[in-house]
Amino acid sequence: MLSIGGADVRDLAADHATPLLVLDEEDLRARARRFRDAYARAGAPLVYYAAKAFLTTTIARWVVDEGLGIDVASGGELAVAVRAGVPGERLLMHGNNKSMAEIEAAVAAGVGRIVADSFDDVVRIADVALRAGVVQPVLVRVTVGVEAHTHEFIATAHEDQKFGLSMSSGAAQEAVRRIVALPSLRFVGLHSHIGSQIFVASGFEVAAHRAVRFLDRIRSEHGVVVTELNLGGGLGIKYTDDDAPPAVAEIAAELLEIVVAECQRYRLPVPRLAFEPGRAIVGPSTTTIYRVGTIKRRTLEGGQQRVYVSVDGGMSDNIRTALYDADYTVALANRGSDARAMLTRIVGKHCESGDIVVRDAWLPDDLAPGDLIAVAATGAYHRSMASNYNLVTRPAVVSVAGGAAQVVLRRESLADLFATDVGLSEADVRTFGS
Ligand code: LLP
Repeated sequence: MLSIGGADVRDLAADHATPLLVLDEEDLRARARRFRDAYARAGAPLVYYAAKAFLTTTIARWVVDEGLGIDVASGGELAVAVRAGVPGERLLMHGNNKSMAEIEAAVAAGVGRIVADSFDDVVRIADVALRAGVVQPVLVRVTVGVEAHTHEFIATAHEDQKFGLSMSSGAAQEAVRRIVALPSLRFVGLHSHIGSQIFVASGFEVAAHRAVRFLDRIRSEHGVVVTELNLGGGLGIKYTDDDAPPAVAEIAAELLEIVVAECQRYRLPVPRLAFEPGRAIVGPSTTTIYRVGTIKRRTLEGGQQRVYVSVDGGMSDNIRTALYDADYTVALANRGSDARAMLTRIVGKHCESGDIVVRDAWLPDDLAPGDLIAVAATGAYHRSMASNYNLVTRPAVVSVAGGAAQVVLRRESLADLFATDVGLSEADVRTFGS
């Protein structure tokens, strides 16, 4: 049987029902500290936790408590960070299509950095800042033209995708030109995010080289010395034994070395480095607990057997397998077993064949309905990408520390689903909603 943060998963499942995301508080905090320390040693005063990976007010408070800032990419993420009491100057706002309302909320919150992602964005941020009577610090998101080695959907530094302004086409330079000319904006530096779930340092290194070369061009043209270089997030984590992420401290040291050397080459002062890790902080902290419902053995062509194990969640709490062909480590969680291992496919309860949680998982062949299984490293981009497909309610998240569990996000109820259905009366919601 499995215990997480000192808590027995059987008790957690009994108390909070399944599917359940169990978040080990100390694991998350330790990873946040590791980033803070690595980059503090590397000369970076601020690491921003990427809220998109998973944000609740509790998590916002923890990461800020550990000395980090928060990168938000929508009005919703901003609102949660503000509600959690995160000071505006610790926040950084992203988005390739920020609405005026989102920019207004960011400026009103005193967000320390807004990352401009298009010419339209530059105009809108300047306009909002002007009306608010503030000078808003901005970064320009640049695409450095790196092909990051990761899934196409999460690679962001090549030319043919929606984020950033191209350095090679001159668009980034033009954005800087416009920002420098606008009195309600203060140009502080560049932002580059090359992608996510990356294991090799080379992509970051090329980005750092190209970004510093660009800083030199900015100084030549505008006489502006850039004080900040934000290299985004993207450090990979270990989902299975095939994954070998580099140590945070190693990457930090390598990047700083490159930036310092390049700056010396161009006789530029070394900018303050900033980073935005999301997955590497929250991903490994969390385990999803599912209960096995049905088990179906299918005989395939050639006589081979495939065992379909259906669990009580699926693509509504983990879309990553369907979307990115993601893979996970799985274990039987409620008991030990000496039974032979059998190859299973763990599937969800949704009406779609692509509703797969783990494509190939080895589990004991005495697995039975009612058993609990644990899927590891589900803290990042799981609950934050969850949906209500098939009107399934989204699972709870509990944090565990020292054997005690605390609800971070409660499980959705039918009343939550009904709350937005205006065809139902309030009485209906009260009657059916619990
Ligand atoms: N900064 C920016 C500008 C980003 O776009 C992202 C992620 C991050 C930081 C954080 O990256 P991380 O350290 O978490 O890799 N849903 C996908 C990942 C999408 C990442 C989007 N941007 C997945 O489940 O793999």
